[in-house]
Amino acid sequence: MTNSIKYVGVNDHSIDLFEGQYKVPRGMSYNSYAIVDEKIAVTDTVDARFTHEWLDNIRTRLNGQKPDYLIVHHMEPDHSASILAFAEAYPACTIVSSAKAFAMMQHFFGTQFEDRRTVVKEGDILSLGAHTLHFIAAPMVHWPEVLMSYEESEGLLFSADGFGKFGALDTPDPVWDDEARRYYIGIVGKYGQQVQAVLKKAASLDIKAILPLHGPVLSENLSHYIELYKTWSSYAWESDGVVIAYTSVYGNTKKAALQLAEQLESSGCPAVVTHDLARCDLSQAVSDAFRYSKLVLATTTYNADLYPFMRTFLTALCERGYKNRTVGLIENGSWAPQAAKLMRAMLEEAKGITILEPSVRISSALDDESAGQLEALGKELSREYTALSGSAAEKNDLSALFRIGYGLYVVTSNDGKRDNGLIVNTVSQVTNTPNRIAVCINKQNYSHSVIRQSGVMNVNCLSTEAPFSVFEQFGFRSGRDVDKFDGATPPHSDNGLAILPKYINAFMSLKVESYVDLDTHGMFICTVTEARVISDKPTMTYTYYQENVKPKPESAAKKGFVCKVCGYVYEGDELPEDFVCPLCKHGAADFEPLKQ
Ligand code: FEO
Repeated sequence: MTNSIKYVGVNDHSIDLFEGQYKVPRGMSYNSYAIVDEKIAVTDTVDARFTHEWLDNIRTRLNGQKPDYLIVHHMEPDHSASILAFAEAYPACTIVSSAKAFAMMQHFFGTQFEDRRTVVKEGDILSLGAHTLHFIAAPMVHWPEVLMSYEESEGLLFSADGFGKFGALDTPDPVWDDEARRYYIGIVGKYGQQVQAVLKKAASLDIKAILPLHGPVLSENLSHYIELYKTWSSYAWESDGVVIAYTSVYGNTKKAALQLAEQLESSGCPAVVTHDLARCDLSQAVSDAFRYSKLVLATTTYNADLYPFMRTFLTALCERGYKNRTVGLIENGSWAPQAAKLMRAMLEEAKGITILEPSVRISSALDDESAGQLEALGKELSREYTALSGSAAEKNDLSALFRIGYGLYVVTSNDGKRDNGLIVNTVSQVTNTPNRIAVCINKQNYSHSVIRQSGVMNVNCLSTEAPFSVFEQFGFRSGRDVDKFDGATPPHSDNGLAILPKYINAFMSLKVESYVDLDTHGMFICTVTEARVISDKPTMTYTYYQENVKPKPESAAKKGFVCKVCGYVYEGDELPEDFVCPLCKHGAADFEPLKQ
């Protein structure tokens, strides 16, 4: 600490569970600082079990000088439990905090210190001499009354629980990140939006050091910690890899989980972490689920519900705002398996979750069918890792070409008798001084020979409003045989060619500058003679057309009945009255028609 900032906090090695639930094998620190200036301020107090040690620290480090202010940033008892003792030890001292914090003091201590308090809010300042504190409201980071404060002369951010971590200061961790992540996800994780709001305020401050209520003062490489907080609070994943969280009653689900882990490791997955939810530290499993990009949940059905440890784990994820991840499901059930359906239902409240299909269904123990499903899940999870590996990747997968982003255009031309148009997806700008556009057209298309002779064309950029009828009008048939503008009176550009009156966001008139013979196709390289923007609607892409415009083939509707208990499907028009489910042995009354 500096000459004017003194550490007066304490280390706790006797605590078994922080907040009554988090294991803290390296203990915990309750940080408190004294700012020594013309006026002396102490920031926050400590857990009730350390009141006297803390008061001794204040006396010793202040060499008997008496503090003028106690600044209370946060009222959770690990920081507030010693307020009353402090107030009694220093009766002339003023207590500075938010209105909400004083209301909480009423509940904790039966007083709001009305005769010796200063209520502060966002934007208020407290001058101590050379040091000036600016108060910043930080509601829900991690209680509603929380304040942070910024000391301007030394650039110090007193960040309350923000940037805190598990672990006492006298038993430092090799890295800050892991126990800070477990602390953040477990304790503050639900309040990402509020953390983002505070980070935005902090961005305008010249911060030289962060002084949290738990863990070390951060004074170097601050961008590392701030970037981690940005990642965590935005619920983005921090590390690429797969967490496999499983429960197993007799070892069969565990066997599947570990087999999947082995497959992923040998497929080049950058990190594979397994957690047996009945035996691991749950907060570590939750922290890892938030850390990594993908999660596999493997569990059994138990009492017609989820196995309890899995339900607890999923509840912990969802109540902390788990989202934007890829999830694979493995269920095991000796009869009437329900687990995958129940896990899916719990994940419905989480946003941006991609569940890999299909889930793996194990009937008691892995067999050929479920082992095949498990292998398929492993391949899907490791697909991108395999594809990026120099040795394991399939290097001649020409379906890659379908991933090139194309727009869709109607190219109009005129053969001297009538307007013509065709659909193309091969339009690209190839230079910009001058602007040159390349258009490739199949030689079999009538437009190819028309443009070859006329040397001009219009490129009409279709917008996402274009219906399938536009594609029927200009595609699927030849201008040699039909008049594609039959009955229509389209507007024309200065080169005399047709402009589509609807469903375009721009058009360009092109003059052919050169031609490249590409065997089946010809490439026209053109200059732009006219260009107009019609609307701000997005351009129709090939992908958008495939997904939203092209009619979907009629799916062969499967008729049948599904067992409401176990999901078994009976195919047929009618379910026999005396039918008994071969899986769960429930009768016809427990079946319902398949939804079409
Ligand atoms: Fe460290 Fe929210 O208390």
